[in-house]
Amino acid sequence: MTDTNGILYVGIDLGTSRSAVSASNGQRHVVDSYVGWPVDMVARKILKRSVLVGREALENRSMLDLRRPLERGLLKEGSERDAEAVRQLLKHLLSLVGVEDEAKPSARVRAVVGVPAEALRVSKQQLRNVMKGLVDGLLIVSEPFSVAYAVDALLHALIIDIGAGTTDLCVMNGRYPTESDQRTLLNAGDWVDEQLFKLIQAHHPEANFSLFMVREWKEKAAFVGKAKAPVLVTAPIKGKPTQLDITEELRTACEGLVPPVAETMVDLIARVDPEYQEKVRGNVILAGGSSGIAGLDKALQEALKEIGGGRVQAVKDPIFAGCDGGLAIATDADESDWEKLSS
Ligand SMILES: Nc1ncnc2c1ncn2[C@@H]1O[C@H](COP(=O)(O)OP(=O)(O)OP(=O)(O)O)[C@@H](O)[C@H]1O
Ligand SMILES: [Mg+2]
Repeated sequence: MTDTNGILYVGIDLGTSRSAVSASNGQRHVVDSYVGWPVDMVARKILKRSVLVGREALENRSMLDLRRPLERGLLKEGSERDAEAVRQLLKHLLSLVGVEDEAKPSARVRAVVGVPAEALRVSKQQLRNVMKGLVDGLLIVSEPFSVAYAVDALLHALIIDIGAGTTDLCVMNGRYPTESDQRTLLNAGDWVDEQLFKLIQAHHPEANFSLFMVREWKEKAAFVGKAKAPVLVTAPIKGKPTQLDITEELRTACEGLVPPVAETMVDLIARVDPEYQEKVRGNVILAGGSSGIAGLDKALQEALKEIGGGRVQAVKDPIFAGCDGGLAIATDADESDWEKLSS
């Protein structure tokens, strides 16, 4: 399972809605960031498992105490269950790339974990505790930094990672980003879902739908600007499946992201050394699942016109950019960069 020098390097993107892992043995996987425990003995009998992770947990949610360990970009603190949820998620990701037995191979696993910038500030220690016993070397980095590493945008670039819980912005100056190079907004995919939910509810008060359905509708058709086609979905009204046109609601919800992200983008660029601002404006990189909103790159590029114009490009592989960057950092890191977790 290890490469030639006996160490397995792993890059992990720990996300609010999805987490991805990429390892030096060529394995690459993505899971939904959900962990659930059967609520009672009936659920336990049906599920035949003490804990479920990923899509499986999501699909069986009616039978589970379901947790999203990184809601709002923070590793939730307080309850045992939440800490255990993060641990189960990380264990699951490591098992997907072949790190099975906690006791033995952990001595040879080195992991770079990318977390939302906010979590980086709040709970590095918590993450360290969770990773103890799972890996022997650890490096915690901010998510946009690992994306920058993946797309080789380490100098004169601005990364905008629009995920589920947070939008993380980070200016790259050719060195490790500091606090002042980064910003975190709570306007991201989850926020769009909430807005969309309220808008549809206001327009179709009799329709019955859940936040999970709303997210699925959004992911199929999200856009800003001009609609390519009407967005039609089906939801029950008094039990009868009914077609709803949610084109305007979807546009409004998605467009709500543009002003806060554009404002923060412009603000960060204005703080760059004046001689490099033009280069950064020409090298804005959009990542994260919500970069899949059609027309978002154009809308942000439009906002750059106000400060002299520039170029906004979306990464090709928003699902794996973060963990691939983490893996590249792991293989490039010096011996002294690693935090040793083994006793
Ligand atoms: N095609 C799509 N169009 C619009 N939004 C999408 C699309 N696909 C996924 N999303 C949204 O992207 C978000 C997930 O993105 P991503 O996997 O980057 O987030 P995350 O890393 O889990 O979250 P965070 O970085 O905030 O911790 C969700 O809100 C999801 O609904
Ligand atoms: Mg993310």
